[in-house]
Amino acid sequence: MKLAKQLQKLGTETAFAVAAAAAEWSAKGNKIYPFHLGDINIATPGNIVEAAFKAIADGYTGYCPGAGIPELRAAIAADVGAKRQLSYSAEDVSIQPGGKPVIGKFLAAVMNPGDEVLYPNPGYPIYESQIEYQGGIAVPYGYIETAAGFAMELDAIEYAINPRTRVLIYNNFQNPNGAQSSPSEMEQLAQLAIKYDLWVLSDEAYFEIQYGGQAESIASIPGMQERTVILYTCSKRFAMTGWRLGAAIGPQSVIDVFNKLNTNIESCTTHFIQRAMVDAIGGDTSGPDAIIDILRQRRDAAVAGLNAISGISIQAPNSTFYLFPNVTRVMERKGFTDITRLMEEALTRTNVSFCTRNHFGRTIENEKNHYIRFAYSGIEVEDIEEGMAKLKSYFESK
Ligand SMILES: Cc1ncc(COP(=O)(O)O)c(C=O)c1O
Repeated sequence: MKLAKQLQKLGTETAFAVAAAAAEWSAKGNKIYPFHLGDINIATPGNIVEAAFKAIADGYTGYCPGAGIPELRAAIAADVGAKRQLSYSAEDVSIQPGGKPVIGKFLAAVMNPGDEVLYPNPGYPIYESQIEYQGGIAVPYGYIETAAGFAMELDAIEYAINPRTRVLIYNNFQNPNGAQSSPSEMEQLAQLAIKYDLWVLSDEAYFEIQYGGQAESIASIPGMQERTVILYTCSKRFAMTGWRLGAAIGPQSVIDVFNKLNTNIESCTTHFIQRAMVDAIGGDTSGPDAIIDILRQRRDAAVAGLNAISGISIQAPNSTFYLFPNVTRVMERKGFTDITRLMEEALTRTNVSFCTRNHFGRTIENEKNHYIRFAYSGIEVEDIEEGMAKLKSYFESK
């Protein structure tokens, strides 16, 4: 029996394969230093856990509206709007089982087969997978490394736009490189979207993972709210990756499509989890604040550990829990040309597990530098320091 041809276009999140390799190595009795997955080993705030138990006990265990329960839609509309100086109503919010489903459903709502979609590469791999699976043309845009971190190649983005370009995917607070747009970069990007009349998916999965200052959204720029769908998730902010709760926020015409797709695909997002979150969103911030404090300590330890390695120099990003060091000099020292070899050998020699640039979209022609990605959300400071010290001696040896 043959499977559908279209499946040849479906990608995946290959970081999970790195996790499997690390698990296999661990099963052989090795202590792993897990920097590979953006999962969080910090407990979900207690008030949310208690509210979930109560919601189950109170009987919120049946189906609920496909769009989400009205109270949660309203709470997210108020919270997301307040932090972006925008006005959203409950009808502008479609509850989702996580942030990830927003990507595919957004494309299903606005993209026709053959439409071109600009997406970040290196970037979250599901963009490329969903664009191609749904018959679009995935047009990558990259970043350049500057003294202040990573910046978007705005000229290249404009150059790539043509009459078939319909959609721009933008991930400020970027996975994997931690990039955060300056106000001017975000403004210029918004002007491009307006000039060429593009739909925008603003993936704001890390909007609340900030170590200083208030995050800004491209949706807040005049002319953008009506063309932007925000990807919102509880996964990172509340350390709830496995609970699966997120939302799409945007113009009602698109949100209505999300709601219809919800009914087709999962009926509704888990009822008691939605109920548990009604007070947490926009409420007590002590739980999320404590998560940020822990992540900040881990970031500082990981950045210090990497900067202690000869040939690596990295800025501490203000957002996300990822580091994307340039390891070109390490590769040269070792005489490697394939970054996968560095990753595989590092695992067996040091027990440190990380992803590489290759896990974040297919590589673009003429890329000169090599990068690896560390997620510090699932590893304690002590182990970060221990792992980085092992990596230092391996990376500095020939
Ligand atoms: C950039 C980005 N977008 C979306 C997601 C999806 O997160 P979730 O589905 O857990 O909410 C992730 C998860 O790692 C991410 O890094």
